[in-house]
Amino acid sequence: MRRLDQLLANLGYCSRREAREWLDAGRVTVGGKVADDVSRKANPADVLIDGEPPDHPDGLLLLVHKPLGLVCSHEEREGPNVYSLLPERWRRRNPVVTSVGRLDKDTSGLLLLTDQSALVHRLTSPKHKVPKIYRATVDRDLDPALIPQFAAGTLLLAGEKEPCAPALLELAGPREAVVTLTEGRYHQVRRMFSAGGATVLTLHRERFGDLVLGDLAPGQWRPLPLDTFGPV
Ligand code: URA
Repeated sequence: MRRLDQLLANLGYCSRREAREWLDAGRVTVGGKVADDVSRKANPADVLIDGEPPDHPDGLLLLVHKPLGLVCSHEEREGPNVYSLLPERWRRRNPVVTSVGRLDKDTSGLLLLTDQSALVHRLTSPKHKVPKIYRATVDRDLDPALIPQFAAGTLLLAGEKEPCAPALLELAGPREAVVTLTEGRYHQVRRMFSAGGATVLTLHRERFGDLVLGDLAPGQWRPLPLDTFGPV
């Protein structure tokens, strides 16, 4: 059960103050009757807003095809962000919609967004070892000696004390590779190649766990069931 003004505000329809006007205008019903008390508690399943059920009242989990050029930070000064791809109302939700880990501005591919902080913790924790698969192109021919280096679990990134967890490197062409990571350190793929003497030119995340982009075009997204990764 949730207060109507909180329900409307948390789902991004309007501010709590404006909720009173929405009710006065007859835009909200509970159990088929126009609601007139913003402090009334109701089960979202009984509520209609402008004749429609509330928008994802239990939470959002989105699979996004992140295009190049957008950041995952909410900080305006860091430039255009992935949240600009979403409907306005979702950008006003509380808790806020945030990314599950980050992809760099210059990386494209599969990104999850959610307002479920427990899910963010679960999916980004190295303990859970969710495999993330990236396709990279680099500036020179790849040395197959990198394969055991990535797999060893001893590769140390500049400025770090803990070596990277073992990663699977598959060569897909002289200057192209597919890398499977179970952690998500800052610029990890770029820094791993750089430790091996190559510069990453393009980077795209193809998979996250069992999820793939399918036919989602860059900039598009689709909602996933909240229990995609198990009970929430
Ligand atoms: N590794 C990187 O270097 N960048 C990303 O965006 C993701 C993994």
